[in-house]
Amino acid sequence: MSATSAQRPVLVIDFGAQYAQLIARRVREAQVYSEVVPHTTPVDEILARNPAAVVLSGGPSSVYEDGAPRVDPALFQQDVPVFGICYGFQAMAQVLGGTVEHTGTREFGRTDLAVTPESGRLHEELPASHPVWMSHGDCVTRAPEGFTVTATSGGAPVAAFEDVERRLAGVQYHPEVAHSPHGQEVLRRFLHEIAGVRPQWTTASIVDDAVEAVRAHVGEGRAICGLSGGVDSAVAAALVHRAIGDRLTCVFVDHGLLRAGERAQVERDFVAATGVRLVTVDARQRFLDALAGVTDPEEKRKIIGREFIRVFEQAARDLQAEAGEQGEHIDFLVQGTLYPDVVESGGGTGAANIKSHHNVGGLPEDLQFKLVEPLRLLFKDEVRRVGLELGLPETIVHRQPFPGPGLGIRIVGEVTAERLEILRAADAIAREELTAAELDRDIWQCPVVLLADVRSVGVQGDFRTYGHPVVLRPVSSEDAMTADWTRLPYDVLERISTRITNEVREVNRVVLDVTSKPPGTIEWE
Ligand code: XMP
Repeated sequence: MSATSAQRPVLVIDFGAQYAQLIARRVREAQVYSEVVPHTTPVDEILARNPAAVVLSGGPSSVYEDGAPRVDPALFQQDVPVFGICYGFQAMAQVLGGTVEHTGTREFGRTDLAVTPESGRLHEELPASHPVWMSHGDCVTRAPEGFTVTATSGGAPVAAFEDVERRLAGVQYHPEVAHSPHGQEVLRRFLHEIAGVRPQWTTASIVDDAVEAVRAHVGEGRAICGLSGGVDSAVAAALVHRAIGDRLTCVFVDHGLLRAGERAQVERDFVAATGVRLVTVDARQRFLDALAGVTDPEEKRKIIGREFIRVFEQAARDLQAEAGEQGEHIDFLVQGTLYPDVVESGGGTGAANIKSHHNVGGLPEDLQFKLVEPLRLLFKDEVRRVGLELGLPETIVHRQPFPGPGLGIRIVGEVTAERLEILRAADAIAREELTAAELDRDIWQCPVVLLADVRSVGVQGDFRTYGHPVVLRPVSSEDAMTADWTRLPYDVLERISTRITNEVREVNRVVLDVTSKPPGTIEWE
């Protein structure tokens, strides 16, 4: 399946900013479909997509640098609405005949924006002075012919301009970040009022488009989908099920490294919500055997990944054989690839890049299936909304991330059935208390780690104990690339600690991990 929608896109041209994807998300929050394209895309290709508008993103370069990415003037000769942000604003100013200078007044971070009396369409009715997020060295000192200057700041004499008639506008600041509190409104006004794009990208339309695309792609074929219990595979499966019904079979591999209740959540809640045909493979013993004696984290990951693929392949072959008896064939494998993966692997139509270390539940490479990737256009928040629209329970849709290798990488030391039981019990208590304290949405995830080879002395009911510690690792994060330890309320920590040490006999100490990432990672292994 190629990554485009039936709706005309707003193309965000990526000048190397870490913000391009965020801009695309914000455009979609204004209910307009958008995609990210690299700045090296020839203008003909951009125009051939018939974009509803183009947004030029920020980027690290200075327009003066040799080899700095340029905007092709041809972009402005086709009556396409264009919005420039930061570097894109300067590149646009330059190519349209304005002046960009290196004045030496840099602005980084929170800055006061002064809206000019001719506030124009973008900043109309916004406070005359309001904070925005800036990050620039150069600045536009003269707007191109025909443009009205609608805002200024201490370091940017031209901080925003617009030419409503030609449907062109831009801002020096970053409207896409939360530190620009009116930024979304400004972006929305450009899209809806200046560019005249109709807000049609709604959850219902996403579902309809995706269902139609899957039907067109799969035709009368049959598909299988590996469920991991995570959000992405669950929503992908639910969408494909809506499109092709019982010609989809889901496979859930129970590798025994799951948390308490996870298998039931898939077998009961997911099936109840969707009516999907589900095959569960109980491979618990097989994984325990393969992991026996192994303590090295990477070795564990490799073994779990390898065994997972083997079990999945076997299940696929079994299903294939079963279908074959009825003269059918399974041609398609459903994958929950999301749009950020598509962008990061080089864009629109290429194969999805599945990070090797994150691929449990992913694609067995030598399986002869065509891929169905119904979430290929979507960001995570859209996937969650689609999940809710399809009737999936909150417990699945708002599930926190959980690593494919599961509890296997949360036992420091060898993985055994008994240790898994201990960790599962402690983890269930931590999760229960966090949910009861309504903290699930405040934390990114809270691994509970069993230090299985460590023992310490304790005392319980007049008896000396010699048990294991568990570590609580609550973290807050945006994307798991960086993270901070979450300042959980002491009374919640106390309840978790008391309950774990009382209810899980082998654990006599609960410790809190107060390390950010970097230098620590989120998981201990
Ligand atoms: P780290 O520990 O690298 O984790 O800070 C970042 C995020 O990735 C998850 N994680 C994994 N997910 N397979 C996965 O599917 C893995 O091997 C794996 N290792 C870490 C982790 O839970 C966190 O959300």
